[in-house]
Amino acid sequence: MSGTNATGKEQRPSDFEYRPGEATVAVIGLGYVGLPLITEFAAAGFKSIGIDIDQAKVDSIAAGKSYIPDVPTDQLGPLVHSGTLSATTDFAALAEADAMIICVPTPLRKTKEPDISHILSACNRIVKHLRRGQLVILESTTYPGTTDEVILPIFESGGLKVGKDFFLAFSPERVDPGNKQYTTKNICKVVGGVTPECTRRAAALYSHAIQKVMAVSSTRVAETAKLLENTYRSVNIALANELALTCQRLKIDVWEVIDAAATKPFGFQAFYPGPGIGGHCIPLDPYYLSWRARLSGFETKFIGLAGEINAGMPHYVVDLIVDALNDDGKCVNGSRIFILGVAYKKNVGDTRESPALEIMELLHAKGAVLSYSDPYVPRFTHAGLAFQSVPVTPDALRETDCAVIVSDHRDFDYQTIGKHAKLILDTRNAMKAVSNPKGRIVKL
Ligand SMILES: NC(=O)c1ccc[n+]([C@@H]2O[C@H](COP(=O)([O-])OP(=O)(O)OC[C@H]3O[C@@H](n4cnc5c(N)ncnc54)[C@H](O)[C@@H]3O)[C@@H](O)[C@H]2O)c1
Repeated sequence: MSGTNATGKEQRPSDFEYRPGEATVAVIGLGYVGLPLITEFAAAGFKSIGIDIDQAKVDSIAAGKSYIPDVPTDQLGPLVHSGTLSATTDFAALAEADAMIICVPTPLRKTKEPDISHILSACNRIVKHLRRGQLVILESTTYPGTTDEVILPIFESGGLKVGKDFFLAFSPERVDPGNKQYTTKNICKVVGGVTPECTRRAAALYSHAIQKVMAVSSTRVAETAKLLENTYRSVNIALANELALTCQRLKIDVWEVIDAAATKPFGFQAFYPGPGIGGHCIPLDPYYLSWRARLSGFETKFIGLAGEINAGMPHYVVDLIVDALNDDGKCVNGSRIFILGVAYKKNVGDTRESPALEIMELLHAKGAVLSYSDPYVPRFTHAGLAFQSVPVTPDALRETDCAVIVSDHRDFDYQTIGKHAKLILDTRNAMKAVSNPKGRIVKL
């Protein structure tokens, strides 16, 4: 039986199950993570309310238009027009929600310390509307202890008791933007609650929208699992990057080495070198773990070493460009350098922490005449520089002294690039299938 509280809002019974058609889900933070997530809940039949401080995103959703490539407008539009999914900047809408999921950014400060100010800001606004029976789940990547030590006191400050009056859990978001095979819906959801009842409720909610849910014993396990995943990637990419530097000295093709090793059916997973790591996760998240470990008197070693090697890659790419131009009797100053792809990885338009930006900044400082092409990034500004994407035409390629493949988007015509560019620096092994290139190809 449901009742009402002093504010007239519905109270849910203690055994309330979050079922489509009955429960309302709110997602706070509608970016790369939040928009796909709320779309899944709405598609599963939950009344879904999105909340974001960015009016432009709210307006776009209200118009039924997606701004995240993983969420097609064809999917979002009907959910909005049917009234299943709505968006607002007003946190008062949370009064209607049975469950709230927080997907706000968790950047790093310049000192590489966690910046959880977006989480704190969201929680301080949520608490004003927190009522009995509500479930709150944090999905933003963060250090172990954030949910129990930082968020719980905020939510209990109004007198409500966790596990009895309201429910709190952590469940890491693991979406991989641009990945068509593994999406929000079919990536297993790890869930750890503050109490067993918190875990049970959070797992029950997700089970209606996500194919597989795994409950763990605590919020800290769930928080740390996410950090392990991203640290694992950072460390293994660093190993591949260091191998690339080693192979360059030994004059061995690192790509062929990795492909050969990858034929082993067990005990080896292929990671590849590249121009550096980017995006909102791999370059940042491991430092959440090392920072928290340091607070407990423990210095992690792999995280710092991997970060150092990966952070050095844009500089290494610039060194390779300098050397390649030198072999042509040219210097960077005054050379026309055409950057192909500025997104941090292929087939996405996300330039956050993208190594391309640093490479361009370094080349600009050396006097290079820069242009770029990226079908997913029409324009960008970085370090006071403003650029606009230009098409990859035979003329543009012929006029350039060095074309640098930084993001190996599927949209680039690598045959055309191989046919017209005099010099290509390929940081992704994107030219491997191009036969008889006219110009010289330098591989990472
Ligand atoms: N992008 C990824 O690939 C990815 C993958 C897994 C996990 N994550 C994690 O998910 C979290 C969100 O990342 P994202 O990539 O979606 O970020 P994003 O920047 O794309 O989106 C975050 C959204 O939150 C909004 N926001 C900020 N402060 C807010 C507040 N106080 N109240 C309401 N809205 C607020 C912003 O306007 C923005 O729309 C981060 O912790 C990130 O580490 C990201």
